[in-house]
Amino acid sequence: MDPLWYKDAIFYEIYVRAFADSNGDGQGDLCGLLAKLDYLQDLGVDCLWLLPICESPLVDDGYDVSDYRRILPEYGTLDDFRELVQAAHARGLRVIADMVMNHTSDQHPWFVQARSSRAASNRDYYLWNADDEKFKDARVIFVDSQTSNWHYDPHTGEFYFHRFYTQQPDLNYDNPVIQHEMLDVMNFWLEMGIDGFRCDAVPYLFKREGTNCENLPETHEYLKRVRRFVSERFPDAVLLAEANQWPRDAVAYFGGGDEFQMAFNFPIMPRIFMSLKQQDRGPIVAIAQQTPPIPDSCQWCTFLRNHDELTLEMVTSEEREWMWREYAPEPRMRLNLGIRRRLAPLLDNNQRKIELANSLLFTLPGSPIIYYGDEIGMGDDIWLKDRDGVRTPMQWSAQECAGFSKAPASRLYAPVIHDPIYGYARVNVEQQRADPESLYHTLKWLIAIRRQHPVFGRGDCIFLTPPNPAILAYIRHYQDETVVAVHNLSERAQETGLDLGAFEGRTPVDLLTKQSFPPITREPYRVQFQPYQFFWLNLAPSQGS
Ligand code: GLC
Ligand code: CA
Repeated sequence: MDPLWYKDAIFYEIYVRAFADSNGDGQGDLCGLLAKLDYLQDLGVDCLWLLPICESPLVDDGYDVSDYRRILPEYGTLDDFRELVQAAHARGLRVIADMVMNHTSDQHPWFVQARSSRAASNRDYYLWNADDEKFKDARVIFVDSQTSNWHYDPHTGEFYFHRFYTQQPDLNYDNPVIQHEMLDVMNFWLEMGIDGFRCDAVPYLFKREGTNCENLPETHEYLKRVRRFVSERFPDAVLLAEANQWPRDAVAYFGGGDEFQMAFNFPIMPRIFMSLKQQDRGPIVAIAQQTPPIPDSCQWCTFLRNHDELTLEMVTSEEREWMWREYAPEPRMRLNLGIRRRLAPLLDNNQRKIELANSLLFTLPGSPIIYYGDEIGMGDDIWLKDRDGVRTPMQWSAQECAGFSKAPASRLYAPVIHDPIYGYARVNVEQQRADPESLYHTLKWLIAIRRQHPVFGRGDCIFLTPPNPAILAYIRHYQDETVVAVHNLSERAQETGLDLGAFEGRTPVDLLTKQSFPPITREPYRVQFQPYQFFWLNLAPSQGS
């Protein structure tokens, strides 16, 4: 058992409702997922992140929890969950789940009671105020649907605070009972065998007048307490922070190695798309250089897409306008401060380009996470509301309902994608597994190679500055292993010279193709690229030297 397992792991994000339906009711469920563990093991990922699975009225697809100790009935039972975790562990897969800390559903018994009267004994589990003037500097996050973080509750004549939908009242973390209850919930799931949590919306836990109510010292202090509580009992459990913040504020969630072990790298994500569109490494290199170092025991989680809109909160307003113009030309493609599209459509369904983006994901510092369906290049459905268009059923085969469910198509929780380009008849697991040239096989290959080389998860990273700006190259180094990852961000063939003089005499070998390159001399090292081509050049010292 290595308590730092997450540094080498490859993660896979699963929306249970969308993955596999075992009983033909049109909704994916835990038993359906269980039956697909072989697929995930074969793909080669190490850890599954499940979107919320607790009981919920589903105003926000489970991010509105009404009972933290029960599974949503459509998904199954606690026994199903235990069985899933055991079966995953038996295959060497770990499982983490979403932990929604900042708010509950308005249907949670706590809130039902708290709103029943101003004198309710648990009234201050939540945040009430006579008007909507408090915490004015806290930004609204769901700007397309919310005008305020306060909602008037007519029954008691006061307003309550909510950072997300009205139906998601924020908990009052100044109340020690709430602090304790959340630890208890985590303990409940850890005792069932879960390997950790992706902690939702953590920057917002505490609120203070006169601040933007994000990243407050009180919040960090409580999160450190969470870490102590979890690590003392379950030393192998990982805590992954969702903190959509600028680099300096995001890094704070690692503390001094005593807060989260992992945090999503939100700042680099949109810059990957900027660099790809501009065919220029500038945006990626600039943000990486603005990102402070993190404690040794900690790890970024890198991602290209997830279940939300591609968020543009961590870019300037000019950059956001540019990203919208380039990647979301139709208004329907936009949501809040982001873009509600999947990876393949964002990258013009160009397989080489999608592979290149994944190579960045797999070689930049951090542990990568793959969003379900992106390994086969699934499309999106911009005609569905909110973020539903990127949460459509997994496309397993060309059978009816994409092999996702035996239900009639009209009963599915969401329509399967059926357009001529991304539709399940054409894009599905079965077809891609049969085609050795498919995106699925490339991804599987990248996963397999990365797993053999701890340098990607553990090594440091130094960016090179070749004269050709379309070439992004960085040296990853860990113990006696050195790999130079080189990428052609351009749609055209390119050439450049790399400064590899420090490795004079070594013979690079591409880890991906096993192809040997000419030995390195003191001169700039010439490399030629096909459009979007990339190499993972291993600089092992020459044999015998
Ligand atoms: C996180 C989730 C998002 C959810 C929100 C409120 O940002 O990723 O899906 O709507 O928190 O819980
Ligand atoms: Ca089902």
